Amino acid sequence: SDRGNVRIHESLDELSTDLADYIGELSEASVKERGVFAIALSGGSLVGLMGKLCEAPYNKTLDWSKWYIFWADERVVAKNHTDSNYKLAKDNILSKVPIVPSHVHSINDSVSAEEAADEYEFAIRQLVKTRVVSVSDISDCPKFDLILLGMGPDGHVASIFPNHPVLNEKDEWVTFITDSPKPPPERITFTLPVINSASNVAVVVTGDSKAEAVRLAINDVGPDCPSLPARMVQPTNGKLVWFLDRPAASKLDHP
Ligand code: 6PG
Repeated sequence: SDRGNVRIHESLDELSTDLADYIGELSEASVKERGVFAIALSGGSLVGLMGKLCEAPYNKTLDWSKWYIFWADERVVAKNHTDSNYKLAKDNILSKVPIVPSHVHSINDSVSAEEAADEYEFAIRQLVKTRVVSVSDISDCPKFDLILLGMGPDGHVASIFPNHPVLNEKDEWVTFITDSPKPPPERITFTLPVINSASNVAVVVTGDSKAEAVRLAINDVGPDCPSLPARMVQPTNGKLVWFLDRPAASKLDHP
């Protein structure tokens, strides 16, 4: 459908394997084409589901030295705080594979949310200049090779929440919020123009608490459809893939 490629899995193990295969294929294609792979992570259950990347065969076959790591969103807390998306990724993935430390672009954890967002956008601008991150030919936004997103039961993606003004942000690449309904309150996030400029976007969603939001995000729910953040993930030229387990897919029209 035009809501992307929907992949429904019978178990979390099967989903994890498919996700690792998908990431591996995109990494290979991107390194072949551009010499590098620029991937943005989110927080939450997604990171655990990426765990297979640290196991055979992926840990040995992927070209880790060409990976550049970013975050689609981050909580504004110290890097060693249990709420940090950086720490989650470091503990579960980055410490287990040979990623080049200088290729890991985490946010500055010693400034305000606003400054952290500005600095992160500036850092990405520098990397666009050197083509570590490509640039979209239509929006002049950065064009990440892959942006990985989770989704909350309310349909939020990254730290873009329902009814929040960030949904309408058109100019900034990275912005900040101080009123996240999901704690902690202070976060930075990629904006929708950046998400929708990526070459590939994957949304990884599991569990029945998210089934209704999955339906509203994917199915044709008519003109009354709320402007659900997950529904506004619509890559302009890129490919969108949904990784769902059976419970998350249980309310789709044609699962
Ligand atoms: C965050 C996230 C957020 C997350 C979803 C889903 O930092 O909180 O990036 O967007 O991905 O809330 O999280 P779960 O999969 O853990 O429910």
